[in-house]
Amino acid sequence: MAVEAPETQDINGKQEKTSALPAPEEKHDYVRTMFDAIAPRYDLLNSVLSARLHHHWRRVAVNQAALSPGDAALDVCSGTGDLAFELARRVGKTGSVVGSDFSAPMLHLAEKKRQSASSRDTVRFTLADTMVLPFPDHTFDAVTVGFGIRNVSDIPKGLREMVRVLRPGGRAVILEFSQPQNPVFALLYRWYSFTLLPFFGGLVSGRRSAYEYLPSSVAAFHSRQEISTMLNDAGIQDVQIRELAFGAVVVHSGTKPESAGNGKRA
Ligand SMILES: C[S@@+](CC[C@H](N)C(=O)[O-])C[C@H]1O[C@@H](n2cnc3c(N)ncnc32)[C@H](O)[C@@H]1O
Repeated sequence: MAVEAPETQDINGKQEKTSALPAPEEKHDYVRTMFDAIAPRYDLLNSVLSARLHHHWRRVAVNQAALSPGDAALDVCSGTGDLAFELARRVGKTGSVVGSDFSAPMLHLAEKKRQSASSRDTVRFTLADTMVLPFPDHTFDAVTVGFGIRNVSDIPKGLREMVRVLRPGGRAVILEFSQPQNPVFALLYRWYSFTLLPFFGGLVSGRRSAYEYLPSSVAAFHSRQEISTMLNDAGIQDVQIRELAFGAVVVHSGTKPESAGNGKRA
């Protein structure tokens, strides 16, 4: 039997609207169905709703991956592939990038972009659940996730998988929405994300519920400190936090210790 999500929930001391969130046991299928449905309008809405700032945020995140030409990188929850293409610019023609996602329609669009990209021979996309990655241990020099980890139904499990396939000494990077700390900006952001974003997102995508899920899932998401602790628990050290867009976007990054394996790719 489906469990009704509560209309509101106490999140960081405030009653936030959470009726747009699925029950935990339904999240996996709910999220996949939602992204399957909004895929055709995803890139357009990303650019419009972020005023194209998402390109800058991705570049900042990829900087944290500290990649060199010839390296191998994985971008999980890769969607339409923008972060994977940014990684490809850093590893160059001698490197390799895999983008993985569980939504075939999102990956289909990524694949279409790949075919006309200058990095088409560097990047490949594969259908995979972030909680069960089809790669051997210690495979990649960096593993990234952009606006995806919040959507994974078991976040610690997803992080453990990301770290498992990362080589010792490699970098893990999470780019994600967050709650701005400045009270004035936080107020403006709430209005934007709970009013304008669902209205406009709904109008363009025809799926208002997806753009109600977005602010609700950000409001219900873990704090920066909790994400840092989860990364530590998954085996990542020296976690650093970088704020963007007045704290509405945050990059967490850290390193898998050399002592976590033999240092060689499997
Ligand atoms: C908001 S989109 C982000 C896409 C892309 N990373 C970007 O930066 O634009 C979230 C993506 O996570 C994917 N996703 C969510 N949970 C997943 C899981 N368990 N395994 C694989 N992909 C997942 C969705 O299919 C969707 O494409």
